[in-house]
Amino acid sequence: MSSRIRKAVIPSAGWGTRFLPVTKSIPKEMIPLVDTPMIQFTIEEAVKSGIEQIIFVTSRHKSAIEDYFDRHVELEALLKASGKLDLLKSIEDLRNRCEFVAVRQAEMKGLGHAVWTAKQTVGDEPFAVLLGDDLIFGEPPCTKQLIRVFEERGTSGVGVMQVAAEETQKYGIVDVAAGPGPTYSVKGMIEKPSPKDAPSRFAVPGRYVLTPEIFAILETLSPGRGGEIQLTDALAVLASKNQLWAHEFEGRRFDTGDRLGFLEATIHVALSRPELKGPVRAMLERKLQEEGTS
Ligand code: UTP
Repeated sequence: MSSRIRKAVIPSAGWGTRFLPVTKSIPKEMIPLVDTPMIQFTIEEAVKSGIEQIIFVTSRHKSAIEDYFDRHVELEALLKASGKLDLLKSIEDLRNRCEFVAVRQAEMKGLGHAVWTAKQTVGDEPFAVLLGDDLIFGEPPCTKQLIRVFEERGTSGVGVMQVAAEETQKYGIVDVAAGPGPTYSVKGMIEKPSPKDAPSRFAVPGRYVLTPEIFAILETLSPGRGGEIQLTDALAVLASKNQLWAHEFEGRRFDTGDRLGFLEATIHVALSRPELKGPVRAMLERKLQEEGTS
């Protein structure tokens, strides 16, 4: 068994209902920020964190994700002939640095079930989980920050960020032992509590490092909130055994599963591109002025 984190599971089998109607036929993960599918940013975070194998958990109608990270020999030949091969460079770079594997979740029974689906492919070693809905830009990348804590502590952990009281019902919230931070022992975890039931304001936005014990725990769980097998319930079991930590990561996070968060991330990515920054700023200012005068 490797004690190093080499593999990352990317659950991507969900329906993406918040992005209907487009998700009726296009996987949410493939919706672009400017010109790059959202999921590529997640993969870049994983690869920059030292991950060598990406395990997508996909479903029917999601083959576009696998195709995207596969080679496209005819397109490569065409671009090579016209001297434009660098248009595919960002994906090429990722493919040279890690291996892509896909497993199918036959029925969407929840995030916990999606993670469990990767059991055979992960094997008996610790691994990372990254949710594509959460885009986190940081240096070092969020997953790298979590892997460093894992290397010190050896148990499972979650990345956390502080949210406003009225936001607790959108996230898994951890109950942490008092301490100086940024890493805390977790005493309990609860999925989407109302502000009055929330044990803290530390929310888990979709970054985890897990030991393989999680699979055995997931197998014992009955469906929880929403009739789904919840990863949060399995993490709560680890917390009850004092085997879970939470690390307040550094980085800029966008909730790209939400339409407003998606728009903000789009603008962020556009403004980070040297060739787009000036024109996008001018366009936004013009647009705001037009709005103000209408
Ligand atoms: P969400 O609960 O956000 O669902 O799943 P969703 O389908 O992606 O989006 P909405 O809320 O309907 O708009 C959190 C993550 O878990 C994955 C999703 O793909 C997403 O990355 N997931 C969820 C699965 O892989 N399988 C499931 O059965 C459920």
